[in-house]
Amino acid sequence: GLPARVTIHEVGPRDGLQNEAAIVPVEVKAEFVTRLARAGLTRIETTSFVHPKWVPQLADAAELLDRLEPAPGVRYPVLVPNERGLDRALERGVAEIAIFGSATETFARRNLNQGLESQFAMFAPVVERALRHGLRVRAYLSMCFGDPWEGAVPVEQVVRAGARLLDLGCFELSLGDTIGVGTPGHVAELLDGFAAAGVGPERLAVHFHDTYGQALANTLTALTKGVTVVDASAGGLGGCPYAESATGNLATEDLVWMLDGLGVETGVDLTSLVETSVWLADRLGRPSASRVVRALGPA
Ligand code: HMG
Ligand code: MG
Repeated sequence: GLPARVTIHEVGPRDGLQNEAAIVPVEVKAEFVTRLARAGLTRIETTSFVHPKWVPQLADAAELLDRLEPAPGVRYPVLVPNERGLDRALERGVAEIAIFGSATETFARRNLNQGLESQFAMFAPVVERALRHGLRVRAYLSMCFGDPWEGAVPVEQVVRAGARLLDLGCFELSLGDTIGVGTPGHVAELLDGFAAAGVGPERLAVHFHDTYGQALANTLTALTKGVTVVDASAGGLGGCPYAESATGNLATEDLVWMLDGLGVETGVDLTSLVETSVWLADRLGRPSASRVVRALGPA
């Protein structure tokens, strides 16, 4: 069966905008986040405290947070890779962070300048100190379904890395199909692998990029397996600058359309969300990749 309710973890301002070629003005970002909250999203991943040279697009993280007027009941998590990032996040008084690990050696090196093993030593003190400060810590795991350099990634390797991230004290693990190569049977197999290792769907979220058009089918499979938290990006923005073959995330509008049709509650107002993506597409100077935005937006 399907869950009665799904929580959408909106990643547009972070995963979406980290990949834009042209710098988006900080006031546009702030308005984007505000509009997303108004549309009913309750988890909005806002920015990253990563090295500004690695991701110049998000170098304005502190300034963006200073401009936000937090809405009641809305969480504004930020990515934090290391202790320097945590210092910067704590200075801004954030309440929730996300660490982001890799299931493969190559991507750990390319994205974090760490090895598959040494990344855990980088994350451990971050999580420990964040929890001590009362923050909530989410974990991401990238390349769960395939890696552009290493090819297929064995389920056991993904489960082992994911369980270690959770063991650090993270409340949730988001399984990233960074380059969008996964298919529904693989999703079922991976979730079964986690269940067999004692990690049930209530601790997992799914994070699908839509490179091969599989994101909705993969999401539906995860929902039938008991997952109730789904990452998505308004307008289908997104990608990872350190994995060139990655395109946009599952579009939030496409997800909401499907869930509305299935009678699964999300609390998100589709009309308001589409208006937001049309507004942002105007600012970015190109149409949204989302089929639903194109169908419902102005001709
Ligand atoms: P590094 O160069 O190894 O850093 O980068 P370092 O620890 O050697 O430090 C070098 C200098 O950088 C030092 O300064 C540090 O203070 C400074 P110096 O002493 O030389 O003057 N530094 C920092 N400055 C600001 N903020 C920081 C920071 N850290 C060090 N946080 C690092 C290591 C992890 C920082 C770098 O590799 C990095 O920033 N990587 C982030 C890459 C990234 O953001 N990728 C995209 C997000 S992941 C993603 O999109 C996937 C996801 O969506 C899921 C999926 O789809 O699979 C989540
Ligand atoms: Mg991503």
